[in-house]
Amino acid sequence: MKLKEEFLKQYKIIMKDEFHAFLNGFSLPRSHGLRLNPLKCTQYENNPYLKSILRKHRLVDHGFYYQKSAQPGRHPYHFAGVYYIQDPSAMMVIENADIEENDVVFDMCAAPGGKSTHILGKLNQTGLLISNDINNKRAKILSENIERMGTTNALVISTDPKLLNKDFYGYFDKVIVDAPCSGEGMFRKDEQTIVDWSLDKVKTCATIQKSLLDTAYHLVKENGLIIYSTCTFSSLENEEVIKDFLTKHQDVTILPTIKNNHIKDGFKPFEKCSRFYFHHFDGEGHFIAKMKKTAIDKQFKKTKSKSLKKASQEKTSLLNKYLDTYLNHFTLKHDIYDFNNHLYTLHYNKPLPNLDDIKIIRYGLHLGEIKKNRFEPSHALALALKPTQVKSVINFQSDCDEVIKYLSGETIYYPGNQRYTLLTVDNFSLGWVKQVNNVLKNYYPKGLRIKK
Ligand SMILES: C[S@@+](CC[C@H](N)C(=O)[O-])C[C@H]1O[C@@H](n2cnc3c(N)ncnc32)[C@H](O)[C@@H]1O
Repeated sequence: MKLKEEFLKQYKIIMKDEFHAFLNGFSLPRSHGLRLNPLKCTQYENNPYLKSILRKHRLVDHGFYYQKSAQPGRHPYHFAGVYYIQDPSAMMVIENADIEENDVVFDMCAAPGGKSTHILGKLNQTGLLISNDINNKRAKILSENIERMGTTNALVISTDPKLLNKDFYGYFDKVIVDAPCSGEGMFRKDEQTIVDWSLDKVKTCATIQKSLLDTAYHLVKENGLIIYSTCTFSSLENEEVIKDFLTKHQDVTILPTIKNNHIKDGFKPFEKCSRFYFHHFDGEGHFIAKMKKTAIDKQFKKTKSKSLKKASQEKTSLLNKYLDTYLNHFTLKHDIYDFNNHLYTLHYNKPLPNLDDIKIIRYGLHLGEIKKNRFEPSHALALALKPTQVKSVINFQSDCDEVIKYLSGETIYYPGNQRYTLLTVDNFSLGWVKQVNNVLKNYYPKGLRIKK
């Protein structure tokens, strides 16, 4: 790995005696991690596959290490949302966020969804997550990753977070700013970050980061938490950004982050922050700061959306007809919204602020689509349902050829004539098939299909 001269020059001064160990870290083998999705699986010891590949991450509730050769990203469990693959140091961001059930959380820079999926596990289908990424394309990937987790309380949006300042002022219990950065901590993972790195990029990122933190200040409520994180080592993007923030907002206090011998202090006077280095921690490079806003200022004022459209009686009855025919123990307790014939429901029972100017990518759970006077269930609904909630279920073991056939979009022969059927792998929901005359017609979404 060839690092740029300008990069090396800086870190020789910053890291002092540790410089050679720091440099050596860039050549150490990478660690690989995943978090089990507690909404689907908590007992990994009872599962022979998971037991054989996982080693516990000591600081993260459902976090684990695995050997690269295990390739869990290609296993059917990945497609069933049993886990989310995430760098072991990145997992520490949400471990520091003290997320509690019923919290209202904003993940400001959320794609592809590592932090959001972690938050959703901790919320345990209570409270609300608003998950945002300014980049539309990345927000769609974020939405797909959230869909896999099977949650019903996440609103995925794509907007400049500044646009939320007015209607969401003081709305959130926790705001996560996992900021865009120069990515020095990702040099081992992605060589392109080395090519793209420059001191100018570091400075440009720092300007964006300062502005994102200012927005976070407006959005969080009194005594709410702001978690700021980057995957870079540069103090210009870390401690200097925090210094700027605390200078502008004197009521913000900095709180201690989780530490052990492998997690290092932030640079003085920000020792309470965490630094993750390759040569100390089994994971990529990161920085985490935890802060609390203490000011009593303007309170959040309710403003209703005018543009959200509730589903008509006619469409709701088509949906209900489907639910009665195919599902068990599944009752809709929240309003159904209609986005161009796609029906959504958000499991959150308090009124939401005005969303009129905000691009909504996913309004909670995508139930399905009204097509030619009938309701067609969505893939998201399959992933959110437990097998016991569906009248017709076919289960395959994860090493069965049929599972790979299904994920690659092939038709499967299977005796029966049950119509909409949930296909499960080792009893984890994987997607819909339509069983007609001994053939399982494949409803696995085209965009998600794998190449055999
Ligand atoms: C470090 S990545 C986030 C990783 C993500 N939190 C995760 O855990 O998977 C930073 C993200 O910030 C987004 N971004 C950049 N500028 C932004 C802005 N002004 N507002 C919101 N998101 C922004 C980028 O599109 C990128 O997806």
